[in-house]
Amino acid sequence: MLAGKRILLVIGGGIAAYKALDLIRRLKERGATVIPVLTRAAEEFVTPLSVGALAGEKVYRALFDLTDEAEMGHIQLSRSADLIVVAPATADLMAKMAGGHADDLASTLLMATDKRVLIAPAMNVRMWTHPALQRNLAMLAGDGVLTVGPNEGDMACGEYGPGRMAEPLEIVSAVEAALAAGALAGRHIVVTSGPTHEPIDPVRYIANRSSGAQGAALGAALAGLGARVTFVTGPASVPPPAGVHVVRVETAAEMLAAVEAALPADAAVFAAAVADWRVANAAASKMKKDGSGKAPALNFAENPDILATVARMDTGRPGLVVGFAAETDDVLAHARAKRERKGCDWIVANDVSAGTGIMGGAENEVTLVTAEGVESWPRLAKGEVARRLAARIAEALA
Ligand code: CTP
Repeated sequence: MLAGKRILLVIGGGIAAYKALDLIRRLKERGATVIPVLTRAAEEFVTPLSVGALAGEKVYRALFDLTDEAEMGHIQLSRSADLIVVAPATADLMAKMAGGHADDLASTLLMATDKRVLIAPAMNVRMWTHPALQRNLAMLAGDGVLTVGPNEGDMACGEYGPGRMAEPLEIVSAVEAALAAGALAGRHIVVTSGPTHEPIDPVRYIANRSSGAQGAALGAALAGLGARVTFVTGPASVPPPAGVHVVRVETAAEMLAAVEAALPADAAVFAAAVADWRVANAAASKMKKDGSGKAPALNFAENPDILATVARMDTGRPGLVVGFAAETDDVLAHARAKRERKGCDWIVANDVSAGTGIMGGAENEVTLVTAEGVESWPRLAKGEVARRLAARIAEALA
């Protein structure tokens, strides 16, 4: 999600400049505003007209254009963006950047900016492997410039090797990562995940079909944004993500205790499929058939509602409490009611009817219910749902 983000896109003069046209579309699809800057050499490969038409914005071309300077000076232009992307970054542009040149609009913007810069190099394989280029690349990395690609493959010049510009969608992912990096640094977030197991006796238990995949993806996405994540997980079939503090539990009662012990937190996300009931008369030793043909009667007791308990805490409530609602009918109505009933800020609702393949599957189709309204997201990989949700959480905590 790049809604509201301004990307200054410097297009260098190389054959890969045609891919910058698609990059503009991809960035705009995600809600970004793209301000294009063409070097003189870039104009040999793509026209200002096509770039401007795709971006829907003024195209900046030459440094000493007095009209532009009256509208927006180059210093201001270099700082009005959230991120500067150079694609394609030619060997010449990279040399200028490394050397601190400022002899045209693109190089001047890159010198004057106080924003992060992401480059997508593209050039002939010999140029890419040349010691001068590699020296410049190392200098740029030392200056904090981010790089995406180049990829290896057939090149427009007929040679094969590293030097092909990264594909537009790879550049988009790098842009998203660059903009979100560290957004949750210093934040503590508690995540519950997986099913709970409620014992019947020492060898039998009641469980549900949750794999823990959505919770694990969420833990990974939050940690990826720099959050300190306490990941309280029931016996899930998916391993917990790297980079989180894992607390393993079995029952709902243990999960509640672990969550309470992990507080305080800036946010808590309850992705676990907690069993609503436990067996009140669980046996201390294995239950045996007594030969009478009579099945044992299980008495159920309601489990504590972890989400509601935390959402309704008088003191020490996390600033943002997010619940999930797994429903099979009237998803939205149930989700809205659940948000009210449990006192949480957001509900992430999904339809887990058998036909959807969502529970235990790789994808999820969710509706986000907040105080502001309802948003339906398309069917996405659970990792993508997690990244979007993590980005929203970062926005909410900002
Ligand atoms: N939840 C929880 N503790 C429970 C039950 C549920 O923390 N004992 C949380 C889940 O992690 C989820 C949300 O509450 O974030 C909704 O869970 P769900 O099972 O859909 O709700 P229920 O309370 O079971 O409501 P219903 O019986 O209407 O399905």
